[in-house]
Amino acid sequence: MSSKHDSVKKTLTVALVLCLVCSVLVSVAAVGLKPMQDANKALDRNKNVLAAAGLLKPGQSRDEIQRLFDQFELRLVNVPEGRFATDEELQQAGIDPRNYNDRAASRVPALSRSLRGNDPAGIQRQANFATVYLRRDDSGKTDLLVLPIHGAGLWGAMYGILVLEGDLRTVRGLSYYEHKETPGLGAKVENDDWRAQWPGQVAFNDDGSVAVSVVKGKAGGPGEIDGLSGATLTTKGVNNMVRFWLGQGGYGPFIAHLQAGKG
Ligand SMILES: Cc1cc2nc3c(=O)[nH]c(=O)nc-3n(C[C@H](O)[C@H](O)[C@H](O)COP(=O)(O)O)c2cc1C
Repeated sequence: MSSKHDSVKKTLTVALVLCLVCSVLVSVAAVGLKPMQDANKALDRNKNVLAAAGLLKPGQSRDEIQRLFDQFELRLVNVPEGRFATDEELQQAGIDPRNYNDRAASRVPALSRSLRGNDPAGIQRQANFATVYLRRDDSGKTDLLVLPIHGAGLWGAMYGILVLEGDLRTVRGLSYYEHKETPGLGAKVENDDWRAQWPGQVAFNDDGSVAVSVVKGKAGGPGEIDGLSGATLTTKGVNNMVRFWLGQGGYGPFIAHLQAGKG
């Protein structure tokens, strides 16, 4: 049965008004929730840094997590040059370190370079500047160095954090916070048992070459970490990215620079 109010024009008007109201509501919600989303993202990042450094304990409050994270200093590293970025070059590149996004920068040609032909970690492009976190002791000496790493797993990019002790040789821990690997297979990178193999490993040989590797099956030799059973491809990805980021194409030159006391 049709009423006298029925007409195509009225139907379209109601649909249009409804669309407008909904889009305004969605926009207001998106803008209103943005600060909360940003705060949660920051909390998540802080937790990941602390987890990799072995400082995250169950039941810690937001305030405790923030207090522990505040002990770390955020710095940008000029990766190809192997040193801290200077204020001048960051200014020239239009980078504000507090808002710098490594992942976004790796997609901007002016802020990154192609690794085609030499890309063991499978990342395609590498940002020129990388965010690292340092914790210093009372004398100002670095006692923890937090290095973000990423590379290809089986199903997509894996993002993790590798932490070195203050000697800049001993591994404090490795933690993955984002990946697409399969639960029970490649996702075992998150298991405490597997992660427990990392602390105490010596990352570099005396000649500066990378000394750690993730091997298929059970580790036998020095610097070897057990592979993930049933996940050979993820194992290879993790081995490649850890060795790449510690090596000459990654943080190797920067770490050598710090080891030489130039940081
Ligand atoms: C549904 C499914 C999910 C898989 N997920 C992973 C994975 O996350 N990581 C991985 O290395 N292999 C994964 N594999 C297995 C690989 O395809 C491959 O068989 C495996 O890496 C070989 O490892 P192995 O030599 O230790 O058996 C998956 C296989 C299937 C069928």
